[in-house]
Amino acid sequence: MASAGSAEASPPSPAAHAPRLKPLRVKIYGVERDLGLLPPPLHTDARALLLGLERAASGKGRPVELSEARTAAVDAALRKHGAYAGVGALGAQLVRWRAELRGQVDAASINAYYDEWRAEGYTRRLAPAQEALTLRCAEVGGVPLGRPALLLDVGCGSGLSSEPLVRRGCAALGLDASFEMLRAARRAGVEVVQADMAQPFPLRGGVFDRVVSVSAIQFLCHPTEAQSAEARMASAFAETRRVLRPARAPAANPTADGAERPTAAFQFHPDTPSDALRLQSAASACGFATALLIDQPHHTTARRWFLYACPTSAQRDAPHGGEHSRKSARLAAPREATVAPPPAACCSLHAPLRGTCVIALQEWAATHGLPVPTISSDHLHWMKNEHARHARRLLRLLRRQEMMATECHPTTLAASGGTLPPERCLNTSEFTNASEEAEARALRDRLSLEAGDVPAMEKLLDNASMAQVLSVMHRAE
Ligand SMILES: C[S@@+](CC[C@H](N)C(=O)[O-])C[C@H]1O[C@@H](n2cnc3c(N)ncnc32)[C@H](O)[C@@H]1O
Repeated sequence: MASAGSAEASPPSPAAHAPRLKPLRVKIYGVERDLGLLPPPLHTDARALLLGLERAASGKGRPVELSEARTAAVDAALRKHGAYAGVGALGAQLVRWRAELRGQVDAASINAYYDEWRAEGYTRRLAPAQEALTLRCAEVGGVPLGRPALLLDVGCGSGLSSEPLVRRGCAALGLDASFEMLRAARRAGVEVVQADMAQPFPLRGGVFDRVVSVSAIQFLCHPTEAQSAEARMASAFAETRRVLRPARAPAANPTADGAERPTAAFQFHPDTPSDALRLQSAASACGFATALLIDQPHHTTARRWFLYACPTSAQRDAPHGGEHSRKSARLAAPREATVAPPPAACCSLHAPLRGTCVIALQEWAATHGLPVPTISSDHLHWMKNEHARHARRLLRLLRRQEMMATECHPTTLAASGGTLPPERCLNTSEFTNASEEAEARALRDRLSLEAGDVPAMEKLLDNASMAQVLSVMHRAE
């Protein structure tokens, strides 16, 4: 047996110098990807790099910053033992994975993608999140919860969006392309039909009180081999319009209010803000009065998009789908030009994304005689606070800008011996866009009419001032 002394004296074996390597597998875009063998201490950095690349590709989430040295270490390890030749090659592969995923949006690929395992995993993980989105979508579409109403849930998946509405007294029919998702929906007690939402729906026209759709219509923004994205969007919105029942005439129903008009509400996850605008204009082209509603616009990951769509001209009902409804995209153009223009971009919180907040949406809908979306008191309270917070920020920036302008004025500078550093003179504003600055001035002018000066910031929260704040921020253009 070798003594401890002799073991210390023997030269280290070459294997002792070689870094220990372990396979790194990372789940990305729903698939486990093999990045090859890497030293375990670099696994965390490699994951972080991949997350950063993914965020950069989608434009969502905070950038991930790794120091140059750590990036270089991962790059070298990838080149030596990894499945991709360095960080650049991994980035290029990520773009390909993303494009592959986006390209596979035809009904057959969607059906293949959501196999039993994915359908089960999706349903298990996402129930609470999808329920929250669904209830918000139901608010936007004015779904009369607790009262009987017939709903169509487009892209219902495994029923996470239909079931909460059924539980609240609605009758819902789910439509989806994926057999396994639909099987899970059936198990949850939801009636379903398997169909491609970009094709004529196999349903009679004019029967549904509301159409809702949660986390599904973003798939329409991508072309398939057979259909352009524009054709897919046009077909889906024309079909949505066709299956909605006609508005009830006030004479036949004297208590008719907004809630008696059929409406569609879609929650979706656009890849880019311009996809949201494409969806909105496709819906408008099908004769809907539309508004893009954005919850948490200033948040890249928690931002939520909704499309409010209310048919505005006489409906041309097709008795059922098939050949007749195949023409519905063409027929859907309104006979008379009665479509209300979308709301002007409201406050500078939403203006950069060309969307609107729920308070402005309510004002716009009421002005145009459209069903006014309901909104919970909690959400309304939160929304007002968001506006107040934003208004405070704008007024603070304006004050700062004006202070800096005074400090940098040549006479002030001369009086102080011209000691102000030039970079301080240049950094006069942190407004992120021109509409913020215009809004700040309008707010200051409007509020100072009453107060004689910029009012105390806390004042913005009291009701009278809040109404003024909102009227400035939601100005009609
Ligand atoms: C993210 S899931 C949302 C499911 C459900 N609405 C929810 O909130 O849990 C998107 C669903 O859209 C469906 N989908 C995608 N493209 C479709 C198409 N062309 N026709 C019908 N359904 C489609 C998918 O099968 C999937 O079930």
